[in-house]
Parts: sequence; C-alpha cells; structure tokens
Amino acid sequence: MAKNQQKFTALFATSPRRIVAVVPAAGIGARMQADKPKQYLCIQGKTILEHSVTALLTHPAQIEQVILAVAPHDPYLADLPFLNDPRIVLVQGGETRADSVLNGLTHIVPSDNTWVLVHDAARPCLTHTDIDQLLAIQDPNGAILAIPAVDTIKRATATQQIQQTEDRNHIWLAQTPQFFPVDLLRKALQTALQQGLAITDEASAMELSGFQPHLVTGRTDNIKVTRPEDLALAEFYLSQR
Ligand code: C5P
Repeated sequence: MAKNQQKFTALFATSPRRIVAVVPAAGIGARMQADKPKQYLCIQGKTILEHSVTALLTHPAQIEQVILAVAPHDPYLADLPFLNDPRIVLVQGGETRADSVLNGLTHIVPSDNTWVLVHDAARPCLTHTDIDQLLAIQDPNGAILAIPAVDTIKRATATQQIQQTEDRNHIWLAQTPQFFPVDLLRKALQTALQQGLAITDEASAMELSGFQPHLVTGRTDNIKVTRPEDLALAEFYLSQR
C-alpha cells in the first residue's frame, strides 16, 4: 500500500490525470415497481439516464469517455439522444452492479495515470460542483461523494428488532460518483468478486483491498432514484436548477 501511495503521489506531480467515466445502467430497478427499468423513466422530458450522463458529458474537465454498461438486448437504448456523442462507449452489463462496473473498466485502455469516475445511472441530480470537488482530491486511495448521517442509526436483528444504536458521528451515506485509479479499482473488484463478496459500491471493494478512500461531503439532492416517491423529489430538485 505505502509503495502504491508513493507511486501515485509521484505520478500526480509529473502528468495530468486522464479521466474516464463508467455508468452502470444495467439494473432492472425492481423497487421502483415501474413498467420499465428506472433509468428509463422520464423527468422533464429526459430519461433519468440522460440526466445522469449529461452531467458527465458537459463537465468542463473533458471526461475522455463515458462507458455505459447496459443490459443485453436493452430495448430502450436506441432512443437515447446522446448515443451519437463520440465519447460514449456501450458495454454489456453483468449480473450485479459490481459486474457491470468491472465490464466497463475492462474497456478502458490501461495507463498508470487514468482515473475513473463511476456514477450510478439512477442519480440524475449530479451537479458539476460535486464533480469538481471529487476531481480536486489528490488522495491516492481515491474518493467518494457521501453525506454525514443526520438520522439516528439503528442496527437491526434478523427479525427487525433493534439490536443497537450506532454512533452517527462516524456514519456517512455513500453516493456516486466514486473516483479511483482504474488499475487499482479493477484489481479490487476482481478480487472481491472472486471471493464471492457482495459489493454495492466501488469504495467497498477498495476497502477490502486495504485502501481508505477519502469522503467528500456531497449534496443531499444527489439522490439515487430507488422508490416511486423518489421520482417527484428528483423532478423537484431538477426544476430548481
Ligand atoms: O439497484 P441499485 O439502485 O443499487 O443500482 C445502482 C446502479 O447500478 C443503477 O444505475 C443500476 O442500473 C446499476 N446496475 C447495473 N447492473 C446490475 C444491477 C444494477 O448496472 N446488474
């Protein structure tokens, strides 16, 4: 680890980072109870996926590629207006979110100084300011957007009773984008998946490989559209822009 840190700290000093993005968009969004995957529901005339991807494509840092991991035979894909953008690359998604992200990462031409922003297709309210904050981080462990917990946090038993109350001062809720050196993240995800571990974000794979990614305070409106009531909330936030 220390050796890796030295290597990446030295790289920052010598050459600018190449930045690519991977957007896992192959989920079915069962909790949304909609007639199509949630990333294809519309807000203000655009799909949720389009809002999420547009935030990346229009960012002034010139993200080199936006790799979209989509379901095989995705019937909604053809209607996406941004498919003509030369920076969009389509890859097949996998069984889990982590598999989809890994498939995306394998399409990135390896180089020591390439970093990847992984962003959920289902987070349409991402702002350029949030992307700026992440890109400013020079921590070789990588960084994620997250918000400190404000509610009291309970740990539950298997029968949904309270086992204990957690100290919320140390609890953060992870969001995306999450930002890591491509090579480190690829190895971390491969290792975690080979071990059969359940990985729900990139940072957890990095943690399992011994890294301690940086927490960057994000915005509470960067919600992941998950349940039916989230749609109205995302619509409200986007209408305020
Ligand atoms: O299901 P959840 O809300 O955690 O999904 C987060 C993101 O991961 C969504 O953008 C979803 O489309 C994506 N995903 C994927 N491949 C899967 C499952 C989820 O790309 N197999």
